[in-house]
Amino acid sequence: MDANKEPPVVHPAVAALSFLLGTWRGQGEGGYPTINSFSYAEELHFSHSPNKTWKLGSGEPMHAESGYWRPKLDGTIEVVIAQSTGLVEVQKGTYSTEQKVIQLQSEMVGNASKVKEIRRCFRMVDGTLCYDVEMATNTITLQPHLKAALKKL
Ligand code: HEM
Repeated sequence: MDANKEPPVVHPAVAALSFLLGTWRGQGEGGYPTINSFSYAEELHFSHSPNKTWKLGSGEPMHAESGYWRPKLDGTIEVVIAQSTGLVEVQKGTYSTEQKVIQLQSEMVGNASKVKEIRRCFRMVDGTLCYDVEMATNTITLQPHLKAALKKL
């Protein structure tokens, strides 16, 4: 960690589990009645401030999410995402390496009070990663919610 930086303040609700924070590495063993036992190595990272969006101006954290992108060689892709709000989504779609476009449509949105559907589109425009997010709720049909342009760091 940068010695000049204050460590981030631990949210009170997270403090009880702060012993988990950090990067952990080791080995494990797995098995199940239907499979052969196996050994494995693992690196596990727990962080309490993974926020990836913040308010312009104040810097206050906004939404955060993380997940897995699962492209297949046939140009289809599945993305699973867990959001900081508790919402989970399974997205399916297509990608084009030539056009550098990825289009995703939610197949499943779970643990959401009002969100019914989410569509995400990513495209590279002159070296900038642009994306749009559309969303439908229980009262509103599919409408734009976000669009952004990101530069590679
Ligand atoms: C509001 C969902 C991503 C910022 C909302 C609402 C929902 C929602 C359901 C409430 C709409 C309503 O009241 O009818 C989602 C979903 C997201 C997402 C499913 C990802 C796919 C984001 C991100 C940001 C953000 C990345 C910030 C960068 C906001 C803000 C509001 C909002 C500022 C208005 C809050 C308010 O006025 O109370 N979002 N959101 N959202 N969202 Fe998102």
